[in-house]
Parts: sequence; C-alpha cells; structure tokens
Amino acid sequence: MQKISKIAVLTSGGDAPGMNPCIRAVVRTAIYNGLHVAGVRQGYQGLIDNNMYDMDPRSVSNILNLGGTILKTARCLPFRTDEGMETAYKNLKANGIDGLVVIGGDGTFTGALRFSKKYPDISVIGVPGTIDNDLYGSTYTLGFDTATNTVIEAIDKIRDTADAHDRLFFIEVMGRDSGAIALRAGISCGAEAILLPERDTAIEHLIENLKAGQYNKKSSSIVIVAEGDKRGAYDLAEEVRKQIKFYDIKVTILGHLQRGGSPSAFDRILGSRLGFAAVNALIKGETQKMVGLEANHIKLTDLEEALTQHQFKLEDDLMEMSDILSI
Ligand code: F6P
Repeated sequence: MQKISKIAVLTSGGDAPGMNPCIRAVVRTAIYNGLHVAGVRQGYQGLIDNNMYDMDPRSVSNILNLGGTILKTARCLPFRTDEGMETAYKNLKANGIDGLVVIGGDGTFTGALRFSKKYPDISVIGVPGTIDNDLYGSTYTLGFDTATNTVIEAIDKIRDTADAHDRLFFIEVMGRDSGAIALRAGISCGAEAILLPERDTAIEHLIENLKAGQYNKKSSSIVIVAEGDKRGAYDLAEEVRKQIKFYDIKVTILGHLQRGGSPSAFDRILGSRLGFAAVNALIKGETQKMVGLEANHIKLTDLEEALTQHQFKLEDDLMEMSDILSI
C-alpha cells in the first residue's frame, strides 16, 4: 500500500456551490492526519502551470458560506494531451505530491482516470461536484441542491408576473445532458410541463396540455425546458406561438446565475462529508475511486464505473406525479 505524505486538491469543470466546503474538509482532514496539502489553482491548468500553494487550516477559514471555488476552476484542453499530462505529473512529483483529490464532473473524472492509469504512483480520488446531478455512484452531487433552490426562487418570481399578465413562460434551466434540475424545479414550482433530454415530448402533446390548462381556467402557464432538450426554449416557444393564441408567450433563460450563490445546508454538509471521505480514502490506499453518497452513506465507486454509467435516470413516477398535480 502506498503511503501518502502530501496531497493536492483542485476543482475543475463548471463550479458548483459546495466546492468550498469540500476544499475546507480536504485541507483540514489531511492536516489533522499529518499530511501536507497543496491547493492547485484553475483545475488541471494549475497542474500544468505549476500554479499551486501550500495550504494550512487558516487557508480555508470562513469559506463554508462562499459560492464558486477559492481555487478557481477551468475546462483545460491541454490536460487531454500526453504532453500536458506529463508536465502535470512532473510538477506533482517536483512538489512531493503523491495523492490528488479532484472535485468536478464527468469531464474532470475522465481526465483523472486517464492520468491515474498513466501515472499510477499518484493516487487519485474524485469528488462529484456538478450542479447537473448526473454522476453514477452518488445520489446527489455537490451544488445540485443549491442550484435547484436558486432556480425555484427565480421561477416563483416569474410565476408572479406570468400570473399578473396571464402569460405563458418557457424557462430554460441548466443541464447539458441532464433533466435533474428541471424535474425537481418543475415539481417544486408546479410547472405545467417539464421538457427533458431523457424524454421526448411531442410538441402536439405539449399544446394539448396547455389547451387543457386554459379549458380548466388556468391563467398562466410555465414550461420548464432543460438545456439538454434538443429543441431549445426559443424554438419551442416559436412553434407553440403558431398554434396557441390565448397566451402572450415569453422566454427566460436562467443561465449562469444557477451556478452561483451561497451553498445550501445540504451542500455544505455534503461537501464536508465527501471531502473528509476523500482524504480518508487516500490514507487507506484507495485510488481511481469516486466518493459518493448513497442512502445517506459514503460509498466508493470505481471511477471507470462512474464514467460508464449515467447517473440521472429519469424517475417516471415523479414525472407522472408532476403531470397529475399540475392539472
Ligand atoms: O456542467 C455544469 C453546467 O452548468 C451545465 O449544466 C452547463 O451546460 C455547463 O456547465 C455550462 O458550462 P460553461 O460554464 O462552461 O458554459
């Protein structure tokens, strides 16, 4: 078993609320256990540029409540090349680092697994950090809860004005390949329809649904469209406008505001638990694993498996319930 003496921590890909509580947990758990810790700035780019600094317990004071990531993040193309990985490896070795915690989504894990297979003397543990909630091996990913609450707050406000004007709104929420935020927000806000990449909803069906709502004396309607729906909110609104005249139709794209903000209690606790577990896994000699939460227990999943399975499986029962509750 490889004995770890110094670890590095980085955040990569889209930021997610809860990353900072996780960094805090990684740093303090490591130091408590007698390890040294380096914080890597700007994800994998920081490994290539040797942009890292030694951290102590005070480096992570008062960050539990902060959105974003104090380490910054990036989507780093050079790390996908052999040369980029080799430079990163040399920098890690030069800094005496033998363990790495990467916090991010599937792109981050793809890089981590490739790197770790090439350079197995650096142990690697992944922490699921993405608002998309689409990683296998963890019921929840860091940031999903906060982002969903942010979306709900925004949609509640849109509902006020939609109702005041008797309007129909198409609201696009994030989720490149995942309808997780759309489904949760749709149920929470009583959306009249939820369009997701995981399910094909025919435009005719949507129109029937909206007409039924009007027949049932609804004065406003909200259609939530996940970013991954291939038609997009603007095109959908255009199509519907041709066939529905009783509503004035508007489109709102919520965009990156969904990624910001102070992490919820859930994400602070999840970040703390996953960061704590990641360091303990490294100490126990684990590598090429992701730490996740299943049935409220920490679980380790092979990174390989986490990447080949797709986590967000549409819960048909929730969709059916949402349709019934929004009549
Ligand atoms: O992966 C998280 C996510 O917020 C996706 O939902 C979204 O499609 C993507 O990141 C946006 O990425 P960027 O900030 O690079 O535009």
